[in-house]
Amino acid sequence: MTGPGPGPGPADPATADPMTAEQLTEAVVARLAATPDPRLREVMIAMVRHLHRLITEVGLTHAEWEQAIGFLTRTGQLCSDRRQEFILLSDTLGVSMLVDLLAGASAQGAAGHATESTVLGPFYVTGSPERGHGDSIAERPAGEPAYYTGRVLDIDGNPVAGAVLDVWQNADDMRYAVQDPDAPPGHLRGVFRTGPDGGYAFVGVRPTDYPIPDDGPVGGLLAATGRHPWRPAHIHLIVRAPGYRSVATHIFDAESRYLDSDAVFAVKPGLVRTFERHEPGTGAPRGIPADAAWYSVRYDFLLEPEPPPAGAEGLPGGIA
Ligand code: BEZ
Ligand code: FE
Repeated sequence: MTGPGPGPGPADPATADPMTAEQLTEAVVARLAATPDPRLREVMIAMVRHLHRLITEVGLTHAEWEQAIGFLTRTGQLCSDRRQEFILLSDTLGVSMLVDLLAGASAQGAAGHATESTVLGPFYVTGSPERGHGDSIAERPAGEPAYYTGRVLDIDGNPVAGAVLDVWQNADDMRYAVQDPDAPPGHLRGVFRTGPDGGYAFVGVRPTDYPIPDDGPVGGLLAATGRHPWRPAHIHLIVRAPGYRSVATHIFDAESRYLDSDAVFAVKPGLVRTFERHEPGTGAPRGIPADAAWYSVRYDFLLEPEPPPAGAEGLPGGIA
């Protein structure tokens, strides 16, 4: 179809040069130039340029294109309110961690810097039971008991009282409670609040390594690329307090053999801790049977102040 107004007539098919890949890319980019939202325009144009360059670079064939469409179709078809295969794809390609990294939500993890964030994962459930200081999140036997303690502090080292820790973890059968239809709904998850000294304590279990869901297209892609689906043992926590930036993070077990090859690239050295072993009867805290060996791990969370809302930064020089 030709545009309105005078212009060159249709090219003579006998003499016209064939369209090049570059001309095709520029034609698509030109069509996007009128996108009213400037951010959408920027993202769409960059996406088209990168996508066309990728396809040209590898010389994608019709058969490979069909395979890719089939893969994306199956990925979408597997998504439901209980499973998000596209997020799993993003996780396994390092995209989720790249977005997190660019958001700058996490600083260096060193003293004076906020605790680093990492992937949220698909097994977070809102509305976990509120539990008291030192309570257990295991509503039935779920592995080797572990005692988690520490403090929530601001980046100057002052205690943050009344901070909320929302925690969830897997059992020694490798499953989260949401993956196990027989598990009590609140099993292995809970919400705790810090005391006046910023302290928290709860009983859980020592986490185990586990594979991400690998029975769908993402698992197929991992297998086809010679990758394993395992995540290193970890417990999940979201730490929130009014006036501070919330952080969704993990504590990783230093003895896991997958720390260097996490299927979702979410390990940060500052989040790794040693689970210290204690023999049965050696001062086990409330909630841990006296005849059980148990583990303890200590982790202090550092929260940074919440940034002011956009447009409320005040004038240069700090004048409000
Ligand atoms: C998780 O740690 O729960 C998780 C994170 C990303 C993908 C799958 C599982
Ligand atoms: Fe997990």
